[in-house]
Order: sequence, then C-alpha cells, then structure tokens
Amino acid sequence: MPLTLTRPELSRSQNFIAGKWQDAASGARHPVSDPATGIEFTSVPDSGAADAQAATDAAHAAFDTWRDRTARERAQFLKRWHAAIVANGEDLARIISREQGKPLAEARGEVAYGASYVEWFAEEAVRAYGDMIPALMPGKRMMAVKEPVGVVAAVTPWNFPLAMIARKIAPALAAGCTVVAKPAEDTPLTALALVRLAEEAGLPAGVLNIVTASRDHTPATVANWLADSRVRKITFTGSTPVGKYLARESAETLKKLSLELGGNAPFIVFDDADLDAAVTGLMAAKFRNGGQTCVCPNRVYVQSGVYDAFARKLVERVAALRVGPATRDDSQIGPMINARAVHKIERHVEDALAHGATVLTGGRRLSGDGLEGANYYAPTVLGNANRDMALFREETFGPVAPLFRFDDDADVVREANDTPFGLAAYFYSTDVRRIWRVASRLESGVIGINEGAVASEAAPFGGMKESGYGREGSRYGLDDYMHVKYLCQGGLA
Ligand code: SIN
Repeated sequence: MPLTLTRPELSRSQNFIAGKWQDAASGARHPVSDPATGIEFTSVPDSGAADAQAATDAAHAAFDTWRDRTARERAQFLKRWHAAIVANGEDLARIISREQGKPLAEARGEVAYGASYVEWFAEEAVRAYGDMIPALMPGKRMMAVKEPVGVVAAVTPWNFPLAMIARKIAPALAAGCTVVAKPAEDTPLTALALVRLAEEAGLPAGVLNIVTASRDHTPATVANWLADSRVRKITFTGSTPVGKYLARESAETLKKLSLELGGNAPFIVFDDADLDAAVTGLMAAKFRNGGQTCVCPNRVYVQSGVYDAFARKLVERVAALRVGPATRDDSQIGPMINARAVHKIERHVEDALAHGATVLTGGRRLSGDGLEGANYYAPTVLGNANRDMALFREETFGPVAPLFRFDDDADVVREANDTPFGLAAYFYSTDVRRIWRVASRLESGVIGINEGAVASEAAPFGGMKESGYGREGSRYGLDDYMHVKYLCQGGLA
C-alpha cells in the first residue's frame, strides 16, 4: 500500500547533514518494509563511517554558535518545531503506522506524546539555573553554572519512532548541544520527517544531523561516533547488550551516557485491589503498541484469593481486542514489527506451554480475514506461569500476558525484583501501608501504583540495574545534556 500524505515532501529518503539532504557517501541504500508482510515499500541511505563522520563534523562546527544563542532563542525554535509537528500530525501518524505497524489511532497518540517533549523542553530551556554558593572566605565568589555537554549522538529504537527521538533531541537542543542521530533501521521515515519539519521551523545548518543505516552498517556508523572524542555524549534506547557495548566502547573517551535499556516489568495485583481498575490498568500497560514497549508488564502476579476472578475479567477484555492492519482506524493491535519479533513470541509461548502454562485466550499467529502477511499475533493470556519459563527471565515484547499466582507480599516483591532489569513495575492495592511498603521495595525506576499509564513528558523516565541510567523527560531530562561548571572568582576583598 503506498504512503499517502497531505504533504508528500514529508516522506524523505536521504540523510540530512550540515543543512543538506544527501545520499550516503557510498550511494548504498537499504529497504524500509511493511511490518505485516516484510515487503519493501521504499528505501533510505545505508550510511557508514564516512557519513557518521560528516555528521559529526557538521555538529561540531555548529556547536559554538548554537550554545551561544540565548536559551530563549533556542526555546523559540523548539516552539516553532512543536507547532509544525502538531500541524502535520496526521501525516506523521500515517508515516508511523506505515513503517512501524502501530494502529493509526495509537500513532496519533504517539505524535501528541512526542510533541509534548518538544514543548516541555522549550519551556525548560530557559530554566537551566545554576547556584550561587556562599563563599567560605572573604574576597571570593563561588558559582555553579550549567553548560551544554557538546555534540550528542542519539541512537533510537523502532517502537516509538517519533517519541523516542523527540525526547532525546529536544532536551539536547534546549541545553545548547548539537546532535547527530541514527534512527532504527526498521523505522527511519518518521525521524526524517521530523527533521524536515525542524528545517521548516528554522533549524540552523549543522545543529541537527541525521543518518540512516541498515542493521549491517549500523555498527560502523555508531563505532565512528564512539571513537570520536568530539562526541561528548551518547543517548541510546534499545537492548541491554547494546547498551553495555556502548558503555564499554565509550569508556576510551569517557563520554556521558544515557541508556534506556530492556525491562522485565512485574504487574502485581494484591487481593485488596480494585479488580476492574487493575484489569483496565493492565490492558493499557500491556497492550500498548501490541506489547512492544520496554515498560510493558512482562510478568503478571495475581494473589491467590483474586486469581480466578481477575483471570476471568482479563480474558474477556483481551479476547475482545481487534487485531487489524495498522492503517485501519478501528484496529487496536497491529502487526508485530517483523518476523523475528513473532518468532520470539512463539518461542516464549511454546516454552511456557512445555513448562505447564495453559492458554486462556490467544496463543497463536493470526492470518486471513483481512490480515495480509504473517506477522500478526493474537492477544494472549496464559495461566499457571512459573519461574522456569523463558518469559520469566526475558522480555517477550509482544501481546502476551502470563499470570503467576502468589500468596505472600514479601515473596512477590522478592520474585518481582528477581531480574537483572529494573525499568518499570506496577501494582494494585487499596491498603495505604502496603502501597508505601511495596513502592519502596520494588527495584524499578518507574512505578505505577493503581495506574497503568505512566508515560508523561513531566515525569523522569529511566531505569535501575541493567535497565540503564539517565532520565528522560521532566527537569532531570535537561540535566542529562549539561555538565556543571564551578567558577571561583577571587580578589574581591
Ligand atoms: C519505551 O518503550 O522505551 C518507552 C515507552 C514510553 O515512553 O512509555
């Protein structure tokens, strides 16, 4: 199906470096495919080290001028960019749906979500305050000021092709940094459209540069940034193994890092929970983007006294979800991103069944009935899950909710924390003492308490343990792109 846009010029197929749209130096291209069928519908440059280096040259050359602009001027640019994103929201949503497979209604939500970070950091840009420190001896003045770190490399994932890059670029530009960016190989088009809108909003040449690359050539592109001492920060959202690689390789030039990595979120339903609210919260958290978010609950713990009632209510809601093509207005779950993703879901479900799980609904691929392609998976609830299953340890990243039965509060908290990851956790209870006890014991950077929808530009988003470090959104999100400089002035006595 062709990509039909009100403004076809938003569909870009070149890199943007030093204010110019250009092909990869090698001329190579890589395909962008329909997630449902795997069939190519367009292509973008397959960049390599030379393109990465050209992007860094441009960002480095633009840095002094951009940092010297007043915070108000940078904020005004971000406000114009935000307005352009909102004004072109329908086209952006169509691009997101086309390349990522997210149903159109959800893609519209992502545009609003991503745009909210641009607006937020336009507002935060003018509030990067420092401190006047009381001097400890006469004749001195001591100050702490915040300054932009320099050139930032942003490497972003496919699951939120707009929101994830927006929440990295917006604070970087607000802080006075310049940026080189590489969007995920599966979903480069949304990022290119965003850059086109930034250009229309008056982006100065070199301040934001973007290169696209295939899975094969991404390592060379990123390795070039890792080795370049002019790149002072890497911000990455993606898998924990890649995050560890970036941490190791950037050690040579000691770059600042923000790593938003994998999760294995527990969702706990205590026996005093409002069960209807818990089911609604789980539906929102688990089935957002077809289960393809880092904060999706991966393990659902239900206390014995309410297990059967909760399972019954959940199955009713999950079985009613409408699976359909992303471009159809009434679809609630689209295709998974690619065949590899569906294989992983199948592996997890098969392994769970082999270890004693039962399918309460779903548990299979879907095809036919208006579903073209092989990458649809039925929204699934599994009963009798246990810790011997692969889905206890690994993130499924798909529409599968496994139910684990538990009895004791302390046991479930121990079990919930028994993972190297610590990104998000959720729990439902109406007992205020239990709420504070459990919230303080869960080892996660983001905790939903009687709430499944936790995402917000005003909130600090990020993990603990092997889910990474750094925070996106909120006032903390700006600090991640700045360092603190101490100024000590003497001779004033
Ligand atoms: C993610 O999946 O990495 C982020 C999801 C969110 O922003 O809520």
